Amino acid sequence: MSKNFYITTPIYYPSAKPHMGHAYSSIIADFFARFKRIDGFNVHFLTGTDEHGLKIQRAAEKNNIDPLKFCDEISQTFKNLSKKLNLTNTDFIRTTEKRHKDSVQFIWKELEKNDDIYLSKYSGWYSVSDEAFYNEDEIEEDNGIKIASVSKSPVEWMDEESFFFRLSKWEKPLLEFYKNNPDFIQPESRKNEVISFVENGLKDLSVSRKSFSWGIKVPNNDDHVIYVWLDALTNYISALNYPNKNDELFKRFWPASIHLIGKDILRFHAIYWPAFLLAAKIELPKKVYGHGWILSGDEKMSKSKGNILDPIEIVDKYGIDPLRYYLVKEVSFGNDGNISQKRLEDCINSDLANNYGNLCQRTVSFVLKNCDKKVPETINFKDEDMKILNKFSINIENIRSQIDKQNINYYINFIVDSLFDANKYFNDQEPWKKKDDQTRLNTIIYTTLEIIRKISFMLYPIIPETSLKALNIFNIKEDDIIFSTISNHEYLKPGLEIKSINILFKKIEKEND
Ligand code: ME8
Ligand code: MG
Repeated sequence: MSKNFYITTPIYYPSAKPHMGHAYSSIIADFFARFKRIDGFNVHFLTGTDEHGLKIQRAAEKNNIDPLKFCDEISQTFKNLSKKLNLTNTDFIRTTEKRHKDSVQFIWKELEKNDDIYLSKYSGWYSVSDEAFYNEDEIEEDNGIKIASVSKSPVEWMDEESFFFRLSKWEKPLLEFYKNNPDFIQPESRKNEVISFVENGLKDLSVSRKSFSWGIKVPNNDDHVIYVWLDALTNYISALNYPNKNDELFKRFWPASIHLIGKDILRFHAIYWPAFLLAAKIELPKKVYGHGWILSGDEKMSKSKGNILDPIEIVDKYGIDPLRYYLVKEVSFGNDGNISQKRLEDCINSDLANNYGNLCQRTVSFVLKNCDKKVPETINFKDEDMKILNKFSINIENIRSQIDKQNINYYINFIVDSLFDANKYFNDQEPWKKKDDQTRLNTIIYTTLEIIRKISFMLYPIIPETSLKALNIFNIKEDDIIFSTISNHEYLKPGLEIKSINILFKKIEKEND
């Protein structure tokens, strides 16, 4: 039976300069997508741009350009970013595409049909930057300006005719669902936050706007456009060709395995989205994971705060793999993470150049000089060899289950420890002193090569480009990477030619230390 895995990133609000928070969400999603792929899953990985709403309309007006033209240009920036980050997304959806608009209008009609929509009037606070409604008790004042307490973004008073979604009706079913599906919202701390919000009572949700036009029209009512979050969230199924539930994509990939999002948009994904789906009689996704923020100082890095570390500049300066590795390792997954260029450089020098790069380099040089440029034959494993090899076979199921719990920290720590062990093993075994015991020398080298292969397989989801460069010493190609083979300790065929290798990571010369 084929195993399917569907992962989504949020669809990004197109802004001229994507920032590190965007890059982070995408890189983590790509990590999971690649891991699942090498573990035998059929993977669908969706990302895209969220192009409607007042926020976009105003941004386009400010630039004196038609909103669709504005989105065409900026959506392209995000597509380019996906390439730059070496993402393996299998689709890129734009909410201005016909497939999406049709799907959103269809779901609207479903909600209407089930009596979940009614016309009334909305009076309350709205943040255009968050595209969110806030209650009076979620507002504070900052120098005379009303802002939302959580996001600190300005709010404006809104007073207009609006269609409402009967969110209140779904309060009990949602609580029931959270109870029966304890993994639905992760991590645990965020789950509790959502549950207590729902327990405090849900009010019906305004789901259309009349005072501007940049959005998907409410079916049979041209005066209203659909609330941008109802529009945007539907991308996860419009990309699978909903409403055609018999479509191959839909059948295979819905319900989604995981919606990976930042914690600021948890309410939309863990409350509104499942409520819409319940109302439209569509199965709910299996998991919503709200990761932390990339901080700059103590603040969330964001365009409106002007504290952006530009992912494109960083990639141009250091390369993509150092950034991917750094973000995966340095930010304890689930929590906020403070990043800095200095720590990125430290990480390149210690983990990547010293530990991984150097291990590959010195082992290959040794093989080229002392083993006839081949994977050695006549080997005889001893306890100390099996000890380091077995770590991989013993832990294979554990690694899988930690990944299914999004425990990236476990995964990366396993790699870091293994690299440390491998370097220590090579030093302790001193193959250069075993030239009069060819079997022992061969065994040490074979073991080290096997470990390099295993670690490179495990590094592939994090630093795909470098992992492939390293695996090229064995002539192993991308399609050959199969996670389960890390438990095979005799994967490398004796006699196989070992190719030379260029430096994997250049050390960064630091001025101040
Ligand atoms: O919210 N650190 O789009 P968006 C980590 N269009 N993640 C961050 C971050 C930071 N500093 N800043 C933003 C939207 N993000 C909607 C989504 S989905 C149906 C619609 C994350 O461009 C943020 O948490 O404002 C979110 O997950 C993603 O980037 C997109 O944010
Ligand atoms: Mg945002």
